[in-house]
Amino acid sequence: MSKKSYPLAKVYGLLETGPVLLLTTQDGQQANVMTLSWHTLLEFEPPQLGCVVSDRGFSHRALQATGEAVLNIPTVEIAEQVVGCGNTTGAEVDKFAQFGLTRRAAHQVAPPLIDECYASLECRLVDTGMVSTYGLYVLEVVAAWVDPAVSEPRTLHHRGYGHFMVAGESIHLPSRMR
Ligand SMILES: Cc1cc2nc3c(=O)[nH]c(=O)nc-3n(C[C@H](O)[C@H](O)[C@H](O)COP(=O)(O)O)c2cc1C
Repeated sequence: MSKKSYPLAKVYGLLETGPVLLLTTQDGQQANVMTLSWHTLLEFEPPQLGCVVSDRGFSHRALQATGEAVLNIPTVEIAEQVVGCGNTTGAEVDKFAQFGLTRRAAHQVAPPLIDECYASLECRLVDTGMVSTYGLYVLEVVAAWVDPAVSEPRTLHHRGYGHFMVAGESIHLPSRMR
C-alpha cells in the first residue's frame, strides 16, 4: 500500500462514523431540524453521546434554551431532504414544510420525531461543559423508537463535500458482547 500526504482539512471525511442524523429542536411554537454528522457515543446505558452543534446555526439556541432534542436516523431514501436540512436555516424557513418531513409527537420531550426516519431517539441535555470550547453537547437518550420493519437500514455516512457512503452489506462475527 503506498499512501500519499492528505490535506488536514479533509481528515474529518476519513473519520466520520455516521450515521448522518437529523436533530430536531422545539423552541416555543417553532420546531426545527438540522443535519448533524459530528457525534460520538460516550456511554452504553443509559445511552449518552456527544454532538457538535455549531453556534453559527439556529438549532443551538433552542437546544441550550430547552435542553431537549430528538436525534432521528434517516436512510438513503430521503438523502436529498437530509442535505437540504443541512443547507438551510430554521431562522429563515420551516424545513418540515419545505422538505415534506412529517412531525410526530415525542413521548418525553417537546421536539418532534420525524416519521420518515426509521429510528428516533428522544434526548435530554446532560452536560454543557464543552460547549464553549468545542460546541459539544452531551445528550442522554431517554426514549428510543425504531421501525421493526426496517432490518437493514441503508444509513448515510458523510465523507465530506456532498459525498456520502450508504450502508450496505452486513456481516456477523462471534463476539463476547451479548
Ligand atoms: C451532511 C451534513 C452534516 C452536517 N453536520 C453538522 C454537524 O455535525 N454539526 C453542525 O453544527 N452542523 C452540521 N451541518 C451543518 C448544519 O446542518 C447547517 O448549518 C444547518 O443549516 C443548520 O440549520 P439551523 O440553522 O436550522 O440550525 C451538517 C450539514 C450537512 C449537509
